[in-house]
Amino acid sequence: MNPLKDVFLFLSKQKFLQDLLSTSGPAKIISKRFISGETLEDGITMAKELNKSGSKISLDNLGESVENEQAALEAAQEYYKIINRIKSEDSFDISISLKLTQMGLDISDEFCLKNLRGIMAEAQKFNKLVTIDMESSAYTDRTLNIFRQLRKEGFSGTGIVIQSCLTRTENDIKNLLPIGPRVRLCKGAYKEPATVAFSKKQDVDANYIKVLSMLLSEEALKKGSYPEIATHDEKIIDWTVDFVKNNNIALDKFEFQMLYGIRRDLQENLVKHGYRMRVYLPYGTHWYPYYMRRLAERPANVWFVLKGIWR
Ligand code: FDA
Repeated sequence: MNPLKDVFLFLSKQKFLQDLLSTSGPAKIISKRFISGETLEDGITMAKELNKSGSKISLDNLGESVENEQAALEAAQEYYKIINRIKSEDSFDISISLKLTQMGLDISDEFCLKNLRGIMAEAQKFNKLVTIDMESSAYTDRTLNIFRQLRKEGFSGTGIVIQSCLTRTENDIKNLLPIGPRVRLCKGAYKEPATVAFSKKQDVDANYIKVLSMLLSEEALKKGSYPEIATHDEKIIDWTVDFVKNNNIALDKFEFQMLYGIRRDLQENLVKHGYRMRVYLPYGTHWYPYYMRRLAERPANVWFVLKGIWR
């Protein structure tokens, strides 16, 4: 592992830096590398732009770790605004992503669930899918419980993110398969203790393939599993392309997903070859922790930041 990765993940949690940088003009400009802008309209404008080259979108209002009910209720209000804004956008496929600590998970599970139910009900009215992001392993159990509860209550448009870096993931997927889950499979962006996560990248990647094979199995697809392959890793993408060809899996049974600002060439190439592609598109003023996690994934990105400051 790159030691800089740990440094950026540590910085991502420093509130004073967040407060300092979130309002700084130059920092805001640099944030545009991974963030569509500060407002919902910035997100919609970029969504339309990306859709011109065939990508579907998952729109995310940045925010996490809210500390009081008022902030969580305000975050939920923003999601009602998103749904209201996109409900009539029939010309392209746009879904929503959110984080549970943005919806009040740190206050209580019940409060968070109540907040979410309202959003899910509103989204369901307009056939909009909602995916629950996965945060650090401290939240995995509670996030899975809330996902299961929403599915049990009939919110079939709810999806969940699962991380291949966690050793528990194979078991979690086994337990989810009977409900035919929509799973956005990623590697995991948080610093995790060695007790719960693979420490070597090759093990995280091998686990990704193992779990993805489970999600793409004939039985899982029959049950309604819909794998969302959320990675920029060309080896995993090539593996998937071969696997679906060899197993005659139709191209509408899964989709690739990538983050806004990363490998647009690869995104467009997959669309050109007939694959479904969805771009995770964040907007908002709380961009700092998300942005730092993007630097942690690829510390070489820091040159881009330095160049931006220099200019
Ligand atoms: P890997 O890190 O091996 O990178 C493969 C290649 O991709 C690199 O060689 C590089 O070319 C490119 N790349 C990757 N990251 C880059 C970056 N930041 N800048 C520039 N190039 C980069 N995580 C999480 O814990 N919870 C979540 O809810 C989500 N949600 C989510 C949604 C979607 C749609 C995606 C694509 C990813 C997430 N993630 C996430 C993030 C995920 O866990 C992971 O940290 C990143 O996707 C990077 O991992 P890769 O799979 O791309 O592989």
